[in-house]
Amino acid sequence: MTKVLGLFGFGEVARGFYQTLQTNSHLDVRIKSVCIKNREKLRDLDPAVFTTEASELLNDPEIDIIVELTDDAEASYEIVKTALTAGKGVISANKKMIAEHIDEVATWHEQFEAPFLYEAAVAGSIPILHNLEQFFKQQEISSIRAILNGSTNYILSKMREEGLSFEDALQLAQDKGFAESDPTLDISGKDALYKLIILTYHAFGDIITDLQQVRLEAITNMEDHFYEMAKSQGLKIKSIATATRKNGKTSIKVQPELINSNDDLFEIEYENNAIVIDASYSGKQTFIGKGAGSLPTGSAVINDLSLLLSGFKYKKHPRKSILKSA
Ligand code: HSE
Repeated sequence: MTKVLGLFGFGEVARGFYQTLQTNSHLDVRIKSVCIKNREKLRDLDPAVFTTEASELLNDPEIDIIVELTDDAEASYEIVKTALTAGKGVISANKKMIAEHIDEVATWHEQFEAPFLYEAAVAGSIPILHNLEQFFKQQEISSIRAILNGSTNYILSKMREEGLSFEDALQLAQDKGFAESDPTLDISGKDALYKLIILTYHAFGDIITDLQQVRLEAITNMEDHFYEMAKSQGLKIKSIATATRKNGKTSIKVQPELINSNDDLFEIEYENNAIVIDASYSGKQTFIGKGAGSLPTGSAVINDLSLLLSGFKYKKHPRKSILKSA
């Protein structure tokens, strides 16, 4: 039977998701309503599907699944929680909301029967949460080292490879739809930190809420001559997110690092993201793909939809030690 969707937001990611649905013949779904903030903006869909009333979607018993793709973390929290409480499956890409409520989100996976999936919240098109929940389930992960913000990486590549100024490169990242509506989230490293908090939960089962303990540094903290110096020495500056587990303790940080050509992340350029997972049996594996952009991020949303329809759910505290005690 056709599943009925309610969509929140119609920005970059939502339009990418919509486009994937238009060309996909596998999924038996239809979008009934799209809730937006502002009716005045031009939309390339039948105006009749749009509403500005969230309750029209959340209270509609015909809607089975809510796809929440807004950029408003507070609104997202209310939408997701209300929809799950009403028994609807939910898909979101709102990394800020998920990271800021990670302790509560973890309980939702158990409390609600309906799935709550958010692959698109972390590293755009890279299916990293699915892999952590499935492939890596039988292993201990010791570290994650990653490039998790497409805009920052794009800016640094444009500056290094094409000599653009920081401001011009940022403007391009905005024009291409990579940056957040508030780009300070990208540049400050916060966007990458939100994604790292989500990864840390799914990789280690650890819930990080005390951000005072986290090292977070913006790429703008660096002096201009630093870029020149790095380039002249064949090095690159990249904003790198790291989560390490040692002696049962997990520490995380996001900061610009100077890396050389032996580094797994050296060749990752422009809006690409990469995640290096070090796990007990498989050893190091690197996942690379587009970390931002309408269609790549939309591809993670449509895959979540397919998983949700097949009954897939994330688990609460997915990762207590899997090793046998001696
Ligand atoms: N602004 C984000 C980035 C979008 O540049 O990575 C994808 O989460």
